[in-house]
Amino acid sequence: MNKKIKNICCIGAGYVGGPTMAVIADKCHDLNVVVVDMNQKRIDAWNSEDLKNLPIFEPGLSQVIKRCRGRNLHFRSDVENNISDADMIFISVNTPTKTKGLGAGQASDLKWIESCSRQIAENAYGHTIVVEKSTLPVKTAQTIKSILEAYTLKDNSDDKASKSFSILSNPEFLAEGTAINDLISPDRILIGGEDEEAISLLKEIYLNWVPEAKILTTDIWSSELSKLIANAFLAQRISSINSISALCEVTEANIENVAKAIGMDSRIGEHFLNSGPGFGGSCFKKDISNLIYICNHYGLNEVAKYWEQVIEINSWQQNRISRIIVDKLFGTISGKKLTILGFSFKPNTNDTRESPSINICQSLLEEGSSLNIYDPKVANEQMESDLKKYKNSWKKFDDLYEAARGCDAIIILTGWKEFNNLDYSKLFKVMRSPCWIFDTRDIINAKIAESFGFNIWKLGDGSC
Ligand code: NAD
Ligand code: UGA
Repeated sequence: MNKKIKNICCIGAGYVGGPTMAVIADKCHDLNVVVVDMNQKRIDAWNSEDLKNLPIFEPGLSQVIKRCRGRNLHFRSDVENNISDADMIFISVNTPTKTKGLGAGQASDLKWIESCSRQIAENAYGHTIVVEKSTLPVKTAQTIKSILEAYTLKDNSDDKASKSFSILSNPEFLAEGTAINDLISPDRILIGGEDEEAISLLKEIYLNWVPEAKILTTDIWSSELSKLIANAFLAQRISSINSISALCEVTEANIENVAKAIGMDSRIGEHFLNSGPGFGGSCFKKDISNLIYICNHYGLNEVAKYWEQVIEINSWQQNRISRIIVDKLFGTISGKKLTILGFSFKPNTNDTRESPSINICQSLLEEGSSLNIYDPKVANEQMESDLKKYKNSWKKFDDLYEAARGCDAIIILTGWKEFNNLDYSKLFKVMRSPCWIFDTRDIINAKIAESFGFNIWKLGDGSC
């Protein structure tokens, strides 16, 4: 058994693997951390000299990479060699929803978990601690264990017979856009497992910067399940507040005032009560879908139905926003030009996975409008892939005011800070009248914008 961890390998150089390992390397100079990925393009981007070309944008990330890369943090594509050198291996691969076969649309596709478990089983050497960092269905550790054990039993050559494994669950709770801060000051670190020695070796790493009181250790199944449930509860709050935003609009109440009033109740709490165009991001929908699948699997159909509603309200919120836009623009947007402000699923990230902007843009394009899209971080290539069915009906702009030229409406879909300081006078001059601003992120001061001549619709504001 290892007495101290020296070499870490992380499989998966994505939104979790990259930042998480960068912070570990930054905080633990005596550890050598290698992040591997089968996607050579992604590894090249992590190694790019110009830090502007890192594959993901996160505030503070490039500074951490600058300090550690080449010192005790490395990005490589030779997965096998780096597995055999490691004392501890983090699995940070993608776990998307299955698109075909049994459980399609709900269950997690664990094919990447399975393939990297096989790679670990084949290439690991000596005792290796395998850490689940990816978000997984409860009981996945059993699958990983079965694969690892199968290889250990099969392999009876003297050299490899010493192969042995401990499996830990250590889910990641970072949110995109605040990943570095979340990693440096986590609310908690959760470690689940049976092997006490392995747990303390992982705990020792986090103790380099996380107070002991924030490190929670549990059994492995509770740890796996807690990650799914944390995301389900967070998403549930958003669907709850979004459902009430519609009620505010018809009763002349204001969702911001309601959120503030209920959030001051310490039992409810003030966070995660911002109404908007529905939750996006790669995980909420996927993780709740997975929860629904697991509940049905265990015959807990009522529990499954309860969580289904969280996803249904989310789609309903996105659909009702596009309907309202069409309705306000005299019932038709065919042939009209609209400006979209914000394409990422939240500010401070270039990630568009499940972004409400994609669905809303698609509905508006289906209605026959053309779109001028402005987002400070999302690349044209990404928009092309998200809107590939609608070639020639939309255009990306690098200048917000150019994006508004000749348009009938501005639709704010992501809460980028720079949208707080719009030059209404300049916008009004370049747009076609009567012109509208549809604000789904509580950014616009309606009174001020109206004074420049705009018509305003604000989500959840019954006075607009
Ligand atoms: P991602 O798609 O950005 O990255 C995953 C990477 O794993 C990809 O680059 C892929 O090429 C690589 N990969 C897959 N199989 C591999 C293999 N066998 N060998 C080498 N590389 C392999 O995904 P992500 O957003 O980083 O999410 C990873 C996991 O973390 C998911 O389970 C997700 O639910 C969870 N999670 C994500 C976030 C987030 O904010 N994105 C936060 C917490 C947890
Ligand atoms: C979320 C969780 O917050 C993380 O703890 C978790 O680790 C991660 O999922 C994951 O497992 O992937 P993330 O999706 O990156 O993080 O970002 P959030 O800040 O949670 O936002 C998700 C979506 O909800 C965004 O579209 C955001 O605009 C929306 N949202 C969030 C609201 O509409 N209102 C709110 O009050 C908060």
